[in-house]
Amino acid sequence: MVTDVSTSPPPPKVQDDVLQIDRLSVEFHTDRGWTRVVDNVSLNVPIGTTVGLVGESGSGKTVTSLAAMGLLPPRGARVTGSVRVAGHEMVGLPERALSDIRGADVSMVFQEPRRSLSPAFTVGDQIAEVVRRHEGLSKKASFARAIECSTSSGSTTQRAAPAPTRTNSPAACASG
Ligand SMILES: Nc1ncnc2c1ncn2[C@@H]1O[C@H](COP(=O)(O)OP(=O)(O)OP(=O)(O)O)[C@@H](O)[C@H]1O
Ligand SMILES: [Mg+2]
Repeated sequence: MVTDVSTSPPPPKVQDDVLQIDRLSVEFHTDRGWTRVVDNVSLNVPIGTTVGLVGESGSGKTVTSLAAMGLLPPRGARVTGSVRVAGHEMVGLPERALSDIRGADVSMVFQEPRRSLSPAFTVGDQIAEVVRRHEGLSKKASFARAIECSTSSGSTTQRAAPAPTRTNSPAACASG
């Protein structure tokens, strides 16, 4: 068969998605065996759009997001289905490859920074570590970048103090 390209209609425009979740399920190992807390969730986030997950407490919003980031512990959680972040399949990816993607193509703002940041390190050092890992900057330059990020995001820490100094612990941050 010969196709006349000049008269063929253009192919349908494919909408690019930054996030594609397809039949995602998550089970946790508990005293009562494997318990399913996310059951067959599918959703797409097209480029340039914002999608909100709404549901009652305990309905699985956070676990869905953690699974999408590849942040659930491989031993205690069983994740099935598919999650594509900026084209990368996250389910089943080794930790090293996941950490190349996290902080570069995808990030998560956790519900409770006091609990999600490590109290053993300052806030500035924890931001700087991500910059060092992905942008290959020196310790000094990555800390300067951490301050820049913190200032541009207008974080509460910045309003309370001029910069996330090395002495700012996560407990010193407000989370509103
Ligand atoms: N590590 C875990 N082991 C066992 N069950 C867990 C674990 N983490 C979460 N769950 C359970 O998974 C379910 C979904 O929890 P999740 O935190 O995703 O809810 P949520 O929709 O984010 O709630 P909220 O609105 O309160 O933040 C809950 O029943 C929770 O108890
Ligand atoms: Mg939650």
